[in-house]
Amino acid sequence: MDLIAKRPNGTMDVTPNEAYKWHTVENVVKETAEQFGFKEIRIPTFEETGLFVRSVGDTTDVVQKEMYTVSSTGDKTYTLRPEGTAGTVRAVLENGILNEGLPQKLFYILSAFRHEKAQKGRLREFHQFGCEMFGSASPLADAEAIALANSVISRLGLKNVELNINSIGCPECRAKYREALKAYFKPHFNELCDTCKERFEKNPMRLLDCKSKEDQEIAKNAPVITDYLCEDCAAHFEDVKKYLSIMGVSYKLNPKIVRGLDYYTRTVFEFLTTDIGSQAAVCAGGRYDGLVEELGGKPTPALGFAMGLERIILTMESQGLDFAEEKTCDLYIAPMGVAASEKAMELASVMRDEGFFVEYDLVGRGLKAQMKYADKIKAKFVIVLGDNELADNKAKLKNMATGEQTDISLGDSLLDDFGAVYYALLMDSDDQFRSFVEAFADDGSSDGQ
Ligand code: HAM
Repeated sequence: MDLIAKRPNGTMDVTPNEAYKWHTVENVVKETAEQFGFKEIRIPTFEETGLFVRSVGDTTDVVQKEMYTVSSTGDKTYTLRPEGTAGTVRAVLENGILNEGLPQKLFYILSAFRHEKAQKGRLREFHQFGCEMFGSASPLADAEAIALANSVISRLGLKNVELNINSIGCPECRAKYREALKAYFKPHFNELCDTCKERFEKNPMRLLDCKSKEDQEIAKNAPVITDYLCEDCAAHFEDVKKYLSIMGVSYKLNPKIVRGLDYYTRTVFEFLTTDIGSQAAVCAGGRYDGLVEELGGKPTPALGFAMGLERIILTMESQGLDFAEEKTCDLYIAPMGVAASEKAMELASVMRDEGFFVEYDLVGRGLKAQMKYADKIKAKFVIVLGDNELADNKAKLKNMATGEQTDISLGDSLLDDFGAVYYALLMDSDDQFRSFVEAFADDGSSDGQ
């Protein structure tokens, strides 16, 4: 094929055969968020560039190297969102949502864009499920958000995912800690990688986050933030840990978690796995008590997290986990000829209005090919409509799993007749039903019936 364009590097197509995996994850995240009282928010794909510079931080990799920024015809520049928090805070303020009572608990499922080196689990366009909570400074809120993320992960069945938590304190604790870090790294300054040399003055905490083996070795004995927390921040962190234990959420203390975005205060966390290559975060977040004010709102404590949906799906695949099966066709109508096609159209409308999943031939295939198609789409029942059926206004309804045939009216009692057989089938245990269909699908594909 001579295609005129190819998929951009670092992006993915979700084909119809794979979409059910996304539906499974999206349904679980939505249901869980709603059970915790979170409501959906939808925000634009692009925002004014300044929003991200101000919130994510001008010394971060995301802002310095990874933003997709475009100029519009006016003087403003816009950037494709590299994450969902900044846009959510902007939208919350612009729509006066904080005046509607606190706490406000919001969730989103969105695409995000970062110009990173594309590799497995690291894309340039990826998708996040995120939750943001506004208006609670209590450690109860930190524990609640972490518990929500933890619930999603366990409901999806993910294994080998470790929750790492840390506190990076408030700006006062951090100022002291930064000085301590600089004093520690100063004698090693010349051995640091170029990126870390730059970070040394501007953002020394990121020195702990460096991917270079040499720098990691140097950072091994660096002072830890938790030794520099002020009384309030330390007490807050103690309570978060206590509440997580009460909720049965296990965690590991990891003072090296500093996060790559500037807005965080106090609690930060990452859910890490090694099942999709080198250690990767499937979910990450934390508290950001200064961000609402930074973006022009009243001082409002807030916190949240985001989960990388591609990474979640990759982990589920690598662990061989089940995704929910898609709905399959209840009835396939196989018409023979023009008049039968018109009848099929009429029957399909009646049954779809009643909620059934109905298909019929749209390409003018012969009977054998239609039966093969019905088998392929895993239709539960098939009706063949020929001249006799049209004349009698009656047809045979074939159960594709058992081969059993039942007479069915094509007139007024169509829905009653079909419903009786359909619900009898559903009454069978789910597993029994599935194994019937699977057994039939195996047979069916070999003999073409
Ligand atoms: P983040 O750590 O930058 O935080 O991203 C959150 C999650 O998005 C990561 O843990 C990962 O699963 C996924 N992710 C990030 N970059 C990529 C990528 N290039 N390809 C695939 N997946 C990726 C945030 O975005 C914060 N807004 C989270 C937050 C919400 N904090 C508070 N509220």
